[in-house]
Amino acid sequence: MNPLHPAIFAALHAQAFPAEPWDEATFTTLLPQPGMRPFLHERGGFLLLRIVLDEAEIITIGSVVRRQGIASALLAQSIAAARAGGATKLHLEVAEDNTAARALYTKFGFTLAGRRRAYYPNGANALILTLDLA
Ligand SMILES: CC(C)(COP(=O)(O)OP(=O)(O)OC[C@H]1O[C@@H](n2cnc3c(N)ncnc32)[C@H](O)[C@@H]1OP(=O)(O)O)[C@@H](O)C(=O)NCCC(=O)NCCS
Repeated sequence: MNPLHPAIFAALHAQAFPAEPWDEATFTTLLPQPGMRPFLHERGGFLLLRIVLDEAEIITIGSVVRRQGIASALLAQSIAAARAGGATKLHLEVAEDNTAARALYTKFGFTLAGRRRAYYPNGANALILTLDLA
């Protein structure tokens, strides 16, 4: 892990998720965990992937400059890394009312695997999406 990563991730996360920012201490704890792979985009984007055996999960993703292909580039990199790391499935959670993120994941071929009702603090449902990497 680059020693600057927790601060960079926290700064970008706060811009992408102003209502629920994860602080530097959170990323200091998360980033060294087994299987974690950080991805940063030079124009302001971040993605944290975790690979455990044959399953991978996107822990968080965001961009600070929208509709410029930043999240798509990070997602494509993380999909390639997950495959190279031996994962056959890639999972993530997204709020049902997050139309931008859902459109992004649909574009990449993610499909609905489950729903958690009232999962987020604002009462929104979480959708569990999966991409088959095999
Ligand atoms: C969701 C998010 C990561 C997308 O990042 P981005 O860099 O703007 O995404 P891209 O430019 O790569 O967009 C790729 C595709 O996603 C879809 N998309 C992205 N933003 C969209 C929006 N606001 N409305 C509809 N579709 C959207 C489009 O299909 C888009 O392709 P197009 O621009 O060719 O039409 C960004 O809006 C964000 O950071 N949101 C806040 C954090 C967040 O919700 N993260 C996801 C949590 S699960």
